[in-house]
Amino acid sequence: MKNILVTGGAGFIGSAFVRYMVEKYPQYTIVVLDKLTYAGNLDNLLPVKDKPNYHFERGDIADAEAVERICQEHNIDAIVNFAAESHVDRSIMNPNAFLQTDVVGVYVLLEACRKLGIERFHHISTDEVYGSIDEGHFKEDDPLSPNNPYSASKAGGELMVRAYHVTHGLHTTITRGSNTFGPYHYPEKLIPFFVTEAIDDRPLPLYGDGTQVRDWLYVEDHCRGVDIVLHQGAPGEVYNLGGENEHQNIEITHRILDILGKPRSLIKHVEDRPGHDRRYAISNDKLRAHFNWSPDTPFETALEQTVRWYVENEWWWRKIKSGEYLEYYKKQYGERLANA
Ligand code: NAD
Ligand code: DAU
Repeated sequence: MKNILVTGGAGFIGSAFVRYMVEKYPQYTIVVLDKLTYAGNLDNLLPVKDKPNYHFERGDIADAEAVERICQEHNIDAIVNFAAESHVDRSIMNPNAFLQTDVVGVYVLLEACRKLGIERFHHISTDEVYGSIDEGHFKEDDPLSPNNPYSASKAGGELMVRAYHVTHGLHTTITRGSNTFGPYHYPEKLIPFFVTEAIDDRPLPLYGDGTQVRDWLYVEDHCRGVDIVLHQGAPGEVYNLGGENEHQNIEITHRILDILGKPRSLIKHVEDRPGHDRRYAISNDKLRAHFNWSPDTPFETALEQTVRWYVENEWWWRKIKSGEYLEYYKKQYGERLANA
């Protein structure tokens, strides 16, 4: 592997992976392909913008001509696909772009690998494809049972990856990560949304009773897991990347308020998300057994550092919270908060 195409590399986890890979592997060339949707942000890539082993290309993974041209121009021999529509609430409002990017886009990338003989395809998936689990932990060979349009489209993309491995013999791997958090996280997702709203003393709209459980993984641990699977994963295999760090949403909200020294009265219980999965939980046994990977960043430290990052980097998130963001905020929360 020499020239790696990182799709979705201007988003939250993709950009963390690019920053990590550019530093760790100066012998590789990292080419980012990103459409720069509302969630894509070149500010996330400022730390690497002048590095000689980094290049940026704007484009859509569902545009076969652009994908093939970029792969040929940069002599790409591996693709790591982070590109996706990634927010569950937006998929409930309008799933169209989710099908286009998370299913058709994945197919276009796989087809480029097949046609151009690209050796590796690593696909970033999510623990949401398993659906909700009340007790215990999902393992990689458990059935997929997605419950919302986002997770259904991610499951569709995954199945296409599987099909290209079985049918065409492509060297594919998949990781299913749990809820990831850290700096540069778009402020529509629970942690960055609540942190930035609380900084401004604005209401925190907690869905339902707030006892839903998510398994939080620090973004650097997520990137390290992807790196290991990219280099050592067996063809056709799927690996869970869990945080081993389950918390109820209400507990996360309390911790954020405590770190910021803000009152709990900011919490507003609002109408629940339709089809809201109660608990995500996955087992890391496979990755631990094969490659000795486990998440090793202590949660308290990581959450505190993350909150501090948003306090110190208002320049990054204040410009995001305008225009389209405010329209989305109004649609998603206007009525919910008015009825709270
Ligand atoms: P994000 O929304 O922050 O970033 C997505 C990126 O993809 C953006 O830069 C966007 O511009 C780009 N993109 C969207 N459509 C595109 C297209 N058609 N062509 C090219 N680029 C396109 O997402 P994220 O939170 O960083 O998630 C990255 C990946 O990780 C996604 O595949 C997501 O499903 C998966 N994932 C996320 C989490 C999480 O908690 N954030 C957990 C597990 C898995
Ligand atoms: O589990 C992995 C998934 O985690 C990823 O695949 C997705 O891309 C990512 O967005 C995330 O999905 P969630 O739906 O779990 O994340 P979100 O931050 O939207 O919500 C986390 C929890 O917080 C969830 O139970 C819903 C709740 N929530 C969220 C928001 C935005 C609220 O109570 N209020 C809110 O305003």
